[in-house]
Amino acid sequence: MGISRGKQENCSPSSAKVEKKGKFLALDLGGTNFRVILLELDSSLELNCQVKYYTVPESLRLGEGELLFDFLAECIESFLKDNNLLGQKLPLGFCFSFPMDQTGIDEGILVTWTKSFNCPNVVGHEVVKILKNALEKRKDVAIDVVAIINDTTGTMMMGSYLDKRSAIGLILGTGCNASYFEKVERIHKWEGKHEGITEVIIDIEWGAFGDNGILDFMKTEVDKIVDENSLIVNSFTFEKLFSGKYIGEIVKQILLQLIDKNVLFHEVKLKPQNWTFTAADVSHSLEGKDLEKISDILKSKGFLETTLDDAEIVYYVCSVVSVRGSLIVSICLSSLLRRMDKKDVTIAVDGSLFKLHPKYKHYMEKFIAELAPNHKFQLILAEDGSGKGAGLVAAVVTSLDRSKLHA
Ligand code: BGC
Repeated sequence: MGISRGKQENCSPSSAKVEKKGKFLALDLGGTNFRVILLELDSSLELNCQVKYYTVPESLRLGEGELLFDFLAECIESFLKDNNLLGQKLPLGFCFSFPMDQTGIDEGILVTWTKSFNCPNVVGHEVVKILKNALEKRKDVAIDVVAIINDTTGTMMMGSYLDKRSAIGLILGTGCNASYFEKVERIHKWEGKHEGITEVIIDIEWGAFGDNGILDFMKTEVDKIVDENSLIVNSFTFEKLFSGKYIGEIVKQILLQLIDKNVLFHEVKLKPQNWTFTAADVSHSLEGKDLEKISDILKSKGFLETTLDDAEIVYYVCSVVSVRGSLIVSICLSSLLRRMDKKDVTIAVDGSLFKLHPKYKHYMEKFIAELAPNHKFQLILAEDGSGKGAGLVAAVVTSLDRSKLHA
């Protein structure tokens, strides 16, 4: 399988400092772009970072798990070769953005795939082992996989380097999820040793909130259609209400109903059949209420004779869907703020929806302030936090006694 590669980019954050110098690798698997990252901590302990993106083809995202991990190993080998690192024993942190049962810092059993992945024979298996098996097939690769983390944890980690008050890591991208600091005394299920630890990071996996039917009361007809059209039906109810993978589809389904009711596009003579509306289209449609720009977006989808009224309706639909999404996620964040009850909390956020949507951040700030009125908070962008956070975790883990890191 050939690999399609993007160019390598420098991705150094401006103010990150860590305590262990050296070179560390990180992998970031979660969306259609797989990232390999090299973090270098120089003698002044500044963080330098190089990243390269690789597109994971659909056949691998939906096929035999071993082939997917072989592909990851192939990308890693190519990255090492390009950076003259073949044969070097570098510690690696694996950011694996899917629900897992984490049994150790370097062990995670996949619970279910989400978003655009569905390789059934990986579910229930320990993914670091599968990755290590794939790496072992490549004789010039001597990587030591020392940690596996979720992207929300990586974002919280990166957030902590940018702002010491970070206590929540949020991903608002293709999927949505958060992690936060929880007091150990509140965790009754933790069976392993944890003397001396007062707080731990909990990966909430709130994307699956509502899978037991508890959110059915608020699901619209459109939400049900979006679920039926998704890769794994009846799962990840909460995530499907607003995250980047689905927000465009929600808008599209509403527009289809409006077309059906003859409210929209009366003057469009030939309506295209196979069109998509993406999260990026939603974001672009809301940039500065530019109706001409919205008409251009619609034209690019094959709706040629749209009117400014049509564009106004599309703008309105994008706004309503975005307000609903930002409100839903704010309800959960404000509950976390109230639960943690810390003086001042920074919420470190990564993900394309947060980065590209012109209004999400503003809506969230407003809603959270209303819903958790006595809790000081700020939302900061921890760009590429997931992957870089995994590299930072690798740096920390290599400086610790690894035998103590298992549950
Ligand atoms: C996954 C989470 C992940 C989130 C954001 C969800 O689909 O289950 O593990 O954190 O997407 O990438």
